Amino acid sequence: MATDPRDNLVAWLRDAHAMEEQAITMLNSQLKRLEHYPALKARIGQHIDETKRQEQVLQACLDRVGGGSSSLKDAAGKLTAMAQGMSGVFASDEVVKGSLASYTFEHMEIASYRILIAAAEAVGDAQTKAACERILAEEIAMADWLSDHMDDITRQFLSRDEAGLTAKR
Ligand SMILES: [Fe+2]
Repeated sequence: MATDPRDNLVAWLRDAHAMEEQAITMLNSQLKRLEHYPALKARIGQHIDETKRQEQVLQACLDRVGGGSSSLKDAAGKLTAMAQGMSGVFASDEVVKGSLASYTFEHMEIASYRILIAAAEAVGDAQTKAACERILAEEIAMADWLSDHMDDITRQFLSRDEAGLTAKR
């Protein structure tokens, strides 16, 4: 059975939209709980704003390619369990587990946009390709920030924990 490449592009745009909705949920729960890691908190706040714009851009792409929004809810549900399991919100080292989860999630996003860029190029959808390239740059920047700060966050956690201070958030 033949599948129009456009149908795959639409399905992957829907998946990405659901992924960003899940990202907002996960980042918001981290933002609300963080107290002693101001740099991380500020970067997460910035990325929440970026992610909300990304979600709107993806919705506009879907509207343009005719993907509609009818099945967005189903796709969102699939990712919920995974993101919740990864977020580590109630772990005694939640800032460390949260950073690990965020770093992992950003790389899933990076892979998703590389897939979308290739698919958009294959069907000649220059607008979707350009939109996904802009989003990809923001995901790479967030992943790089987390990579650059992972050791600092870990050291801060260890020293606070060792001193008997609240370390986990
Ligand atoms: Fe992201």
